[in-house]
Amino acid sequence: MTASESNRCRTAARPRLHVVAAADELASVAADVVQGCVATSLAPRLGLATGGSVAGLYGELIRRHRQEALSFAGVRAFLLDEYLGLPDSHPKAYRNVIRRLLADHVDFVPGAVAGPDASASDLEAECDRYDRLLAAGVDLQILGIGRNGHIAFNEPGSPLDSTTRVVRISEATRRDNARFFDHPDEVPRRAITEGIGTILRAAHLLLIATGESKAAALRAALEGPVAPQVPASALQLHHSVTVVADRAASAELQRPAGGR
Ligand code: F6R
Repeated sequence: MTASESNRCRTAARPRLHVVAAADELASVAADVVQGCVATSLAPRLGLATGGSVAGLYGELIRRHRQEALSFAGVRAFLLDEYLGLPDSHPKAYRNVIRRLLADHVDFVPGAVAGPDASASDLEAECDRYDRLLAAGVDLQILGIGRNGHIAFNEPGSPLDSTTRVVRISEATRRDNARFFDHPDEVPRRAITEGIGTILRAAHLLLIATGESKAAALRAALEGPVAPQVPASALQLHHSVTVVADRAASAELQRPAGGR
């Protein structure tokens, strides 16, 4: 049975929530989840997010690789999303960001990290190709959350059963991501993103949320109604979710979930 088939066979359960006090603790708890996946699967398939929330996790994975022999040699990894319209070598293209944050510092074999090809001439065909690649199953999908509740580039209003596709990036998200670019106008307006339905096919989801700017979104995601207006609320439909949040991001939660 593939990871996605085993996922479909189970029913949703409350997320396991870890609230941590410090950035190094957050990185360590999240890295334990990733290491658990890498160590227990024969051919682990990891879904990778980019962004500020996951940088500490990747730093801790690099440390464990260097100091504790954590190996990624058998791992295949898949980027969640990619900007459209940036040149191949652009430092902020997610394929290059993930190299700097993780891939260049651990022992992935060449070609082990895949992503949607933003330079494809037929983007629709590329989205279908990427979605089919993921259909073989992702064991663990790492996610961040946007201030507006987005996951990957699934902005509010995205269908909960959406698959990999070309999307417009909301102005709110463009403003939030402007901090990574030299000028706000440089932030692309479109991206390829895994759909919410694609993400939900992973066997396990790991959501990382940091900072008070994520508090309202995290509450809406975990405790609000499941609705396309809050894409991350789709996590409530999944049977196996771990959330690692700092105190600021979890400040608005009313009902602590398991694991705290
Ligand atoms: C990026 C991605 C996005 C980010 C989200 C939070 O691959 O999937 O959904 O996770 O925008 O970004 P940060 O962590 O920078 O606040």
